[in-house]
Amino acid sequence: MCGIVGYIGHREAYPVIIQGLERLEYRGYDSAGIALYDGDNLKVSKTKGKVEDLKSRVDKEITSSGSIGIGHTRWATHGVPNDINSHPHVSNSGNLVIIHNGIIENYDPLRQELINRGYTFSSDTDTEVLVNLIEDVKKNEDVRLGKAVQIALNQTIGAYAIAVFDKTKPNEIVVARLGSPLAIGVGDDEFFIASDATPFIEYTNNAIYLEDGEMAVVRSHKKLKIRKIKDDSLVDPYIQELQLNLEQIEKGGYDHFMIKEIYEQPDAITDTFRGRMLVDQGIVRMAGIDDNIEKFLNARRIIIVACGTSWHAGLVAEYIFEEFARIPVEVEYASEFRYRNPVIYKDDVVIAISQSGETADTMAAIKLAKKQGAFVFGVCNVVGSSISRETHAGAYTHAGPEIGVASTKAFTTQITILTLIALKLAKHKGELSNSEFRAYLQELERIPAKVTEALKCNEQAEHVAAQYKDAHNALYLGRGYNFPVALEGALKLKEISYIHAEGYPAAEMKHGPIALIDEQMPVVVIAMRKGHYEKVVSNIEEIKARSGKIIGIVTQGDKEVKKLADHVIEIPETLEPFTPLLATIPLQLLSYHIAVMLGKNVDQPRNLAKSVTVE
Ligand code: AGP
Ligand code: GLU
Repeated sequence: MCGIVGYIGHREAYPVIIQGLERLEYRGYDSAGIALYDGDNLKVSKTKGKVEDLKSRVDKEITSSGSIGIGHTRWATHGVPNDINSHPHVSNSGNLVIIHNGIIENYDPLRQELINRGYTFSSDTDTEVLVNLIEDVKKNEDVRLGKAVQIALNQTIGAYAIAVFDKTKPNEIVVARLGSPLAIGVGDDEFFIASDATPFIEYTNNAIYLEDGEMAVVRSHKKLKIRKIKDDSLVDPYIQELQLNLEQIEKGGYDHFMIKEIYEQPDAITDTFRGRMLVDQGIVRMAGIDDNIEKFLNARRIIIVACGTSWHAGLVAEYIFEEFARIPVEVEYASEFRYRNPVIYKDDVVIAISQSGETADTMAAIKLAKKQGAFVFGVCNVVGSSISRETHAGAYTHAGPEIGVASTKAFTTQITILTLIALKLAKHKGELSNSEFRAYLQELERIPAKVTEALKCNEQAEHVAAQYKDAHNALYLGRGYNFPVALEGALKLKEISYIHAEGYPAAEMKHGPIALIDEQMPVVVIAMRKGHYEKVVSNIEEIKARSGKIIGIVTQGDKEVKKLADHVIEIPETLEPFTPLLATIPLQLLSYHIAVMLGKNVDQPRNLAKSVTVE
């Protein structure tokens, strides 16, 4: 994710754009930049850091701004956050300037081809490739910018929301979108371009939301023309009159960032395997793994170090790695690992999982492992974060910024990445046949749609939340792959509603916790019709016999648990190793609704921080 803003009209562009970038900073904030044309010169100013840093730089570098410009707050995917990789990017001729939200998956072959044609690149980004591809098409086909953008985009694979203009024809901005949002604010003889309506809501509440695969040439004194990128057919613009206020738009119309991020999970999982999982070719490609494959194949064991939700993702990975790749895995709380003088071998592989990439305990565990000679691989969500730079190699979850303190989409995208790695290693080791491997990839590809289906249980979750919001304790039970999901569900509840909750392996009940069961105790049981389903049903009967209140998370169509439980929440069927990606959805929603009903600060719960950079 990132923020894009553009303006063309009768106002001075700079104040509109810079304020728009401030409004979009929640979408991505590792660097920022702006390009303005003042009638004589194209001025580009960009910097690593916040919009605030950009403002202080621009104030020194740009004296006049003119009435056309574009701006960007970056959430890096290709190239670490630094000044050079910041947007906007300028083509080799110096005429075209672009901003981009998304990922051009086939940027590398395109870049090679352009280099062969004499183009040079100053940044590591996929976006700089795109602006030079557009330039190359414009030059060779001798077409206007709009047509050049259309031809170029049809050569790309990936996701984009872009705005690009030509300083030699500064009366138009070309925009296009596929997979990333783009809104056009329609004013009187002026147009605003942005990732959402927050940058222009006080100037106009008339907005056009481009659909995927659409583009437009925006000219201030002309009617807007929208076309389909693929076949150039015209599209009638549909102007919406927005009733949302600023804060609502930042949250995408949701009441909190947490619920917005819960609903972003289908896209976040898709973005995470996009370009890495090629189902038709039966390939999983991940540079950090490919370049170090021998270390993983020859690993004595894999040690996973993490904290909180990331540690729960590591526990899921333990089951997946051992099941698929037959590599021994140990999962460690980073905070314990770093102090207990662990035995670490040089042929150990350590995987550090961290959404923020800044967690102090995880960083310390990494340094300890490196000191002992182990190879350390990072799974982070923030590009260029400290942990992503400290590890020997890594892979980013492309979940986009996770603003809510309670981690949701980070959890499911971490599991996605770790599943891809386990499958890749299993295939390499011959533990999975080609057909088994492909079957798993095909099911993984269906997961985003199944998560969308699982999200339909929201009303059920809200109904159950109303029954149990006043509980003082709760138990979460799961077996196998879903034992870590039980832990994660309990963490979600306690960290945003402040209700004490514990996760347990379902079979462990009889070793003590069953003493807690009475009619006051809600027990959430993950009972997917996979794995040890019959055993879980027995556990449910044990709880029922002691008057526990049972909330079953079940596979759609389940009948057995429905007879026993007080409530059931149904989610789609999937292969056992992938059930955590679905079972976690109702638990996220249940916690969210209970916290809202209790009037808690869902996005910023008491005592917590989004990134624990202290020990
Ligand atoms: C989870 O909802 C919490 N926000 C917390 O446990 C978090 O997972 C933990 O602090 C680890 O953070 P990290 O993934 O950024 O390292
Ligand atoms: N892929 C582009 C980059 O890494 C854009 C990332 C974004 O959406 O901010 O610069």
